[in-house]
Amino acid sequence: MSALSRLHDKVALVSGAASGIGLATARRLTEEGACVVLADLDAETGASRAEELGTDRAHFAELDVTDPGSWAAVVHRSLDRFGQLDGLVNCAGVGGGGSLCETSEEDWRRVMSVNLDGVFFGMRAALPALLERETSSVVNISSIAGLVGFKGSAAYAASKWGVHGLTKTAALELGEHGVRVNSVHPGSIATPLTAGLTRGIGQIPAGRVGAPEEIAHLVVHLVSDESRFTNGASIAVDGGETAGNSLRGLL
Ligand SMILES: NC(=O)c1ccc[n+]([C@@H]2O[C@H](COP(=O)([O-])OP(=O)(O)OC[C@H]3O[C@@H](n4cnc5c(N)ncnc54)[C@H](O)[C@@H]3O)[C@@H](O)[C@H]2O)c1
Repeated sequence: MSALSRLHDKVALVSGAASGIGLATARRLTEEGACVVLADLDAETGASRAEELGTDRAHFAELDVTDPGSWAAVVHRSLDRFGQLDGLVNCAGVGGGGSLCETSEEDWRRVMSVNLDGVFFGMRAALPALLERETSSVVNISSIAGLVGFKGSAAYAASKWGVHGLTKTAALELGEHGVRVNSVHPGSIATPLTAGLTRGIGQIPAGRVGAPEEIAHLVVHLVSDESRFTNGASIAVDGGETAGNSLRGLL
């Protein structure tokens, strides 16, 4: 790593960093010179992943994103360990629930609680520290289910559209204070979350699913000052899946 690393003066907090997209993001951020707090419910895996990334730049903190008190403790711990906070990546998420008629109240609450409440609590907890910096960045990991309807995933889609709307609103409210807020909308990405799903790739112009690193590259850009004029954006990384309806060509 050279002194000119893209993120050499940045500290970022990543939720859901023990696995999948969050882990790939934490890894890319450290590779680009940032110090990173990996936060996750899964303490055992998270701690060992942080150790692999190097204890000088990576630190693990146990976090339940559904609990505002847990967020307060993790932000406090991040500031204790690295002295500042420039980036928040809200990546923790769960799937499940099923179609509108199949979704139980319990499943609805569970999905909304992690995927939407978790993002709200995270931004609220990190904001005082982010406002201390001249410029800072929040990246909320939504989904293409937050850009279009998602048959069979009512709660998941509602939660991810919620993240989309919360991101736009926060961008309007915080932009003038130097805090940028953007959402990233992954398509089909190979992670433990999707390992059990059988998904066709016929709707994906790229003809394949994506890798977690392909999301992480964009997050690095959004955390860095390279993206200082990007605020309130919702960016799909989906191999073209939501570009439009390509079935018309077959009719
Ligand atoms: N994989 C995909 O195809 C895909 C597509 C679109 C969006 N996403 C979104 O990307 C994000 C990451 O997904 P992934 O595929 O890497 O999943 P993953 O299951 O590999 O990782 C999710 C992580 O979140 C953590 N987590 C779950 N509940 C938590 C809680 N209450 N508090 C703290 N941490 C918690 C898990 O322990 C896990 O480490 C999610 O928000 C997901 O909705 C994924």
